[in-house]
Amino acid sequence: MRTLSLIGIGTGNPEHMTVQGINALNRADVILIPRKGEAKEDLADLRRVICERFLEGGTTRIVEFDLPVRDADNPSYRRGVDDWHMAIARAYGDLLAAHTGETGRAAFLVWGDPSLYDSTLRIVEHMRRETALAVALEVVPGITSIQALAASHRMPVNTIGGSVLITTGRRLKAEGFPPNADTLLVMLDGDCAFRTLDADATRFTGVRIWARRMSF
Ligand SMILES: C[S@@+](CC[C@H](N)C(=O)[O-])C[C@H]1O[C@@H](n2cnc3c(N)ncnc32)[C@H](O)[C@@H]1O
Repeated sequence: MRTLSLIGIGTGNPEHMTVQGINALNRADVILIPRKGEAKEDLADLRRVICERFLEGGTTRIVEFDLPVRDADNPSYRRGVDDWHMAIARAYGDLLAAHTGETGRAAFLVWGDPSLYDSTLRIVEHMRRETALAVALEVVPGITSIQALAASHRMPVNTIGGSVLITTGRRLKAEGFPPNADTLLVMLDGDCAFRTLDADATRFTGVRIWARRMSF
């Protein structure tokens, strides 16, 4: 059976790679690196840097591919995302069939941790359902943007005994601040929803915003 590893690579600093991640990287026969167009070339660049820095032995192949693009004109955001994920699932299946033997090992380097606002796990499930490929899945956890944010501000994520809610900028913009969260963690959207927050309102309600720029 083929094996597919989803390796969490952290959020921008190659030194976020764990020993478990480096070992999984080196067990792979092929590393699959998606290209997401020029504007997101830095995401592929970090993956290239990680391979260059941590791969030993020179036997692992690196295959880059163009990720299918989401149809932003689809009037239903959800339908657009579902169709896009199916297209990516088909691309993954084709790549595994083309670049691994029946007992081969492939790996994707997943930004942060694969469990947090990342669709790779869902897409791999589509792939397993839609293709005839038998694939064993391995997940290696990574440092999330939440941990990187907290560390860079030298702060805990939660208040004492407090609740933490993780959401998206898209929802924050549409629904406003959720009422019952002591700490709100927001994954930014392309439109930078934080720009629409009312600075006076946040000042008067005692809200403090902690942000971290993506840099590597
Ligand atoms: C698609 S989600 C992926 C999250 C990732 N799986 C994780 O574990 O953090 C992308 C969002 O994560 C956050 N993010 C990822 N890397 C970051 C970084 N280096 N600095 C700040 N925010 C980051 C941003 O909010 C960005 O919009």
